[in-house]
Amino acid sequence: MATLETVMNATLATPKPAVEATSALFTLGSTTTTTLIAAVLGLAVLYLARGNKAKGPLPPGPPPLPIIGNLLDVPKSRPWVKFAEWTEQYGPIFTLKMGRNTMLVIGRAQPALDLLDKRSAIYSSRARLIMTSELVSRGLRMTFMPYGDLWRRERRLLHQLTSPAAASSYEPIQEMESAQFVRDMLAKPGDFWGHCQRYAGSTIMQIGFNKRAKTPQDPAITKNVHRQMRAINEMMTKTAVAGRYLVDSLPILNYVPEFLAPFKQEASAIFKETLSLFRSHVLDVKKNVESGHDAHCFAKYILESQKSFGLTDDQAYFLGGALYGAGSDTTADGISTFIMTMCAFPDVQAKAQAELDRVVGRGRLPNFSDQPDLVYCGAVVREILRWRTVIAGGLAHASTEDDWYNGYFIPKGTIVLANHWAIHLDPEVYPEPEKFKPERFIDADGKLCGTKYAEAGHHAYGFGRRICPGKHIADRSLFIVFTRLLWSCTLRPGLDASTGTEIPMNVNAFSEGFSSHPLPFKCRIEPRGDWVKEAVDEAVAEGEEMWAAKQA
Ligand code: HEM
Ligand SMILES: *[C@@H]1O[C@H](CO)[C@@H](O)[C@H](O)[C@H]1NC(C)=O
Repeated sequence: MATLETVMNATLATPKPAVEATSALFTLGSTTTTTLIAAVLGLAVLYLARGNKAKGPLPPGPPPLPIIGNLLDVPKSRPWVKFAEWTEQYGPIFTLKMGRNTMLVIGRAQPALDLLDKRSAIYSSRARLIMTSELVSRGLRMTFMPYGDLWRRERRLLHQLTSPAAASSYEPIQEMESAQFVRDMLAKPGDFWGHCQRYAGSTIMQIGFNKRAKTPQDPAITKNVHRQMRAINEMMTKTAVAGRYLVDSLPILNYVPEFLAPFKQEASAIFKETLSLFRSHVLDVKKNVESGHDAHCFAKYILESQKSFGLTDDQAYFLGGALYGAGSDTTADGISTFIMTMCAFPDVQAKAQAELDRVVGRGRLPNFSDQPDLVYCGAVVREILRWRTVIAGGLAHASTEDDWYNGYFIPKGTIVLANHWAIHLDPEVYPEPEKFKPERFIDADGKLCGTKYAEAGHHAYGFGRRICPGKHIADRSLFIVFTRLLWSCTLRPGLDASTGTEIPMNVNAFSEGFSSHPLPFKCRIEPRGDWVKEAVDEAVAEGEEMWAAKQA
């Protein structure tokens, strides 16, 4: 998926001081007179436009400057941390003016549910992303689609593919890939980040297209499925970097014909490459199915349902392909966050391992049948998703009608951001919110529990009609990977080469992107005993057998 800057940049984008904007224009290279005129017109429009007339008081917020509003107040680095401070200062909802756009930031669960959930009919669109969504993806990438007919049809189809029952049917894939994950961790612990990415990429490729990525980069396979998909995803994400494309700040540039607009040529090139890759994966599945193979995967069902959901070929290819973008980095980030956290909190790790020993024993890897009995491990999964939530800043929605809430006016077209970071640090819902405490999700009867706002105890998958459709699949991935890793390994901080002592973990060093993972850290990953290897090898062999049978 794209970065938070994506959402922030795009529509909200930066009518920076005019000088800067025009000079940026020249750096676009072969800028023509047409483009220039368009830009000047655009700027004029921007300066004159006042956005929607406020029909009442907007929620409070930091005082905006004329024209640029609060653009200079919002830090580029981890803006959700600043937003959480503003929540303390201005209340559970506050307003930011991003140029002429209005942004509503929600910092508590109650208003997030009141607006995004209960009034989801008018809070389920997305901010406009001209470069990344309209040009690079030709409007076909579900995550960025405005609320409308196409999004609704795709979402309904996805619902069938990602329901709890459907998610369960993919558990064997997650068991196979997690067995390999653990084997890789034991064999090459130094590459743990690569193993996280491989697990996540290969799992989503199997679920999506019945294809595997057996190594992070397999030189023997030129068309390594996972690497190519990654590359495409990165290309798309980079188009979303704040301030990179002027068209996002000056939508009028979108009227410049392609032969005069280098950014459009670049977008077309990325689109064509993306479509051809997605198409080839979907058509491979089609061939497979036609020749009588069992290809239980999204693409198979998307092809079967394409007609009844009225999807064109390109829409079907993109629906399959775009799931990789939404489901790979997020899952890998969650796993690496877990590894960091276990190094930082050895007591939690020991407690989880004691539970695994008690429930599973030492003769086999944990599996999905153990889930109801692994209460503490389940609570660890929840606490990871709360404490260092993967999409820390949330993914912005946009409203499609004027609305009122608690006496405040929320104009149509407002960008509405539920700040997961702040919501998950609410001391009334999570006492001592800074502390990593899985126990908060275990009730007096020793059962898993949530909060008064969320059965799962957190909001890591977002809100309302846009809530992550992959959440049942993602939860299962995190559970099986966490438990198998702790069952087989002890995770400890790395050692300082000169002193031989443990390097203290920095639990606040996270990547800046909108889906965040810990910055590189050293850790020691060692088998818990000589009983580990046999069980892991056995599980890997079982997985390989299953894979071979599927291909036969
Ligand atoms: C730990 C892993 C994951 C996390 C933390 C996560 C989180 C999220 C969040 C916060 C959103 C935005 C929700 C909102 O707008 O309120 C989202 C959207 C989405 N996610 Fe996930 N996700 C994960 C894994 C997955 C997986 C495995 C898939 C696919 C199988 C997936 C598919 C999607 C799609 C397609 C959307 C866009 C939905 C829309 O715009 O209608 N995600 N995810
Ligand atoms: C998990 O392992 C147990 C013990 O070997 C077995 O009885 C059970 O069927 C397994 N469950 C799954 C989902 O594989």
